[in-house]
Formats: sequence, C-alpha cells, structure tokens
Amino acid sequence: MNRTLVRLLADREAELRNRYGIAFRVTGIASRSLGWIADRAGFDVTTLCGAGAPAREKSEPDSKFISKTTPQNVREWLASAQADVLFEATSLNVKDGQPAIDHIRAALEHGAHAITANKGPIVHAYRELRDLAAARGKRFLFESTVMDGVPIFSLFDQMPTIHLQGFHGILNSTTNVILGEMEQGLSFDEALKKAQALGVAETDATHDIDGWDAAVKTAALITVLMGLNEMGSNENDVPIRLEDIEREGIRDLTPQALRNARRDGWPFKLVCRAKREGNGIKASVAPEKVLATSPMGKVTGTSSYIYFETDIFPGLAVTEENPGLYATAYGLLTDFVRAVGG
Ligand SMILES: NC(=O)c1ccc[n+]([C@@H]2O[C@H](COP(=O)([O-])OP(=O)(O)OC[C@H]3O[C@@H](n4cnc5c(N)ncnc54)[C@H](OP(=O)(O)O)[C@@H]3O)[C@@H](O)[C@H]2O)c1
Repeated sequence: MNRTLVRLLADREAELRNRYGIAFRVTGIASRSLGWIADRAGFDVTTLCGAGAPAREKSEPDSKFISKTTPQNVREWLASAQADVLFEATSLNVKDGQPAIDHIRAALEHGAHAITANKGPIVHAYRELRDLAAARGKRFLFESTVMDGVPIFSLFDQMPTIHLQGFHGILNSTTNVILGEMEQGLSFDEALKKAQALGVAETDATHDIDGWDAAVKTAALITVLMGLNEMGSNENDVPIRLEDIEREGIRDLTPQALRNARRDGWPFKLVCRAKREGNGIKASVAPEKVLATSPMGKVTGTSSYIYFETDIFPGLAVTEENPGLYATAYGLLTDFVRAVGG
C-alpha cells in the first residue's frame, strides 16, 4: 500500500508543493522483510516506486539500519528518520490491532502525525490514540480504512451536530468479487484467486470470507461516527465491541444458490448493518438477498456502497465504483494534506 502511496505522492509532488505548499522527503521505510531503515537525507523516490529494496548508497554517516521490530527500536527508527508523519499500513490484525497500535502510539509520542490504512487500531484503540494525538497537538487520521480513499469520515466533519442513527452497505470488495464471479460459474477457489489478483483481498483472506473485514469496518464506523452520546459528551463513547457484531461470512453459499438467486433477480451480497436501539447499537454482517435493481444490487466487482440514516438527511448514500490501486493510497494522501497542510 505504501509503495502505491509513494508513487501517488511522486505523481502529485509539484501540485502538492505549488498549490498546497507541501514538500516532503521519504526518510524511513519499514516492513518485516526489509527491516526498519532510516535515512534523514531522504530515499530516492523512483527507486522506492520499483519492486526492490531502497538504494542505500546515498545514506549519511549517521543513517541507521535497524533490523528487529520492537517498540523501542520503532522509536529509534522514527527518531533517526526525523519523522514528521508516519503512514502505517501493516496487515490487519483482527484480534488486537497489533503491532499497528504500537507503531501509531510511538509515532504520536515521537511528535509525528499518524496516518493509517489499518482498521485494527480504530476498533481496538481509537479513544486512546485520538486522545494521545490531541494531547500532543498531532493528527491521528484513518480515512482509507473504510471504502478506500472515499471521504467517509471527513464527510461527517462537514456535518456538525448531525446524529447518525444507522447505516447499511457493502464494504468488503473481496467477497463482492467472489460472489459475482461464482454467479458467472467460477469455483470458490478460482473466484478468490481473481480477488487476490486484483489486490483487494486481505493478507489473510479468511478475514474477508468469514466477514471479519466487514465487521471491523462496521465497528470502525460505529466507533468513530456513532460514539458520541446525544449531548456530544465523550463519556461512554465506545458503544460496540467487535464481538457484539453478529457475523456470518459467505463460506456456506453454494454456486448453485448464488446462480439461482441471481436468476430470480435477488442476488446475494454481504451486507453490513448498524442501527441505534435504545441506548445501544445493533450491528450485523451477513449475506442477504437484495433486489438486483436496488442500489446494493447494482454494486459489482470492487465497488462499494453505504447508506447513512441521519436526523437531518433521512437517507444519504455514497457509491464508490470500481476503485483502482490508487484509491486507498489517495485516502492516505488526503489525510497527509489535512495533517500538514495547515
Ligand atoms: N489493499 C486494499 O485495497 C486496502 C484497502 C483499504 C485498507 N487496506 C489496509 O491497508 C493495510 C495494508 O494493506 P495491503 O493490501 O498493502 O497489505 P499487504 O500487501 O499485506 O502489506 C502489508 C505490509 O505490512 C508489512 N507488515 C506486516 N506486518 C508487519 C510488522 N509486524 N512489522 C512491519 N511490517 C509489517 C508487510 O511487510 P512484509 O511484506 O515485508 O511482510 C507488508 O509490507 C491493511 O491493514 C489493509 O487492511 C487495504
């Protein structure tokens, strides 16, 4: 993901500088296989855009190469890179959101803005990270965690005092691709391979198939957008836990059932739902038959859709059609501009 972001940043470099007054250098990169590498002089962006490891010839004498991943050397890496912004894009850990939470916490404590595409930290540590960012005068932003780079969270920044009562939608591209391909006659395994080739599947595809990714997105939306009570107080503002979301994946849907449902004009979709009920929120992720001509019925391939119910706008829907590789990276870029653009 971050390699795509670097390509997008390189592509928009002149526009960022001339129009938004933002100049940047990539001074640190990290992954399990590459290790933790910092060079405050900046890496050659063209090399980073390629497939290989970064060129290190131009490193300064005090550049550091840190090979192990521990909370302590993540801090050393941030300090060596003199990081102003961290882009966190490690794989989703449904269970506890780690190590992404540690990475983000380290960045905020170091004094950098933290921007993530990873949903785990929102579900498992939103309040802590939001409050830490506020205390340090930094931003903790996560626009690309749901519907790629579509400004879903920022949409609500533009609607002060609005109350979100509920939402429904199709938020997991992998299962949407699989269901569509199986309707056309592919086996489950062939359809999954197609989704993986498109780059939309989670590193562990069972997260998609069993509905975990959709449930985490649902929980993230509820946590951030439905967290405040009616008086706008921050108290009790974690209204749902991941395990409170009823979850059913697409494993038990046979090719025959999918083809029959499509033939009858009511195809299956993996639908996310959330609704205020009394003092709580009821939420679910499950396959549902939807009318083929309805907005959800028309969501095909990697497209996604969400319908918000609010006290001001009874229905407010957003459709994202066929996002490409840059869509998620674009969410990271927009967060970058919001964080450093003044
Ligand atoms: N792809 C999408 O369409 C999309 C859309 C929205 C959000 N997201 C989210 O964006 C994140 C990245 O997605 P992706 O598709 O780019 O995943 P990916 O291809 O699996 O990349 C994950 C990266 O994280 C690194 N990594 C994993 N665990 C690490 C650790 N403990 N320490 C250091 N590096 C670690 C991996 O390094 P190695 O390769 O060296 O192991 C790899 O470079 C995920 O959280 C995903 O849910 C993805």
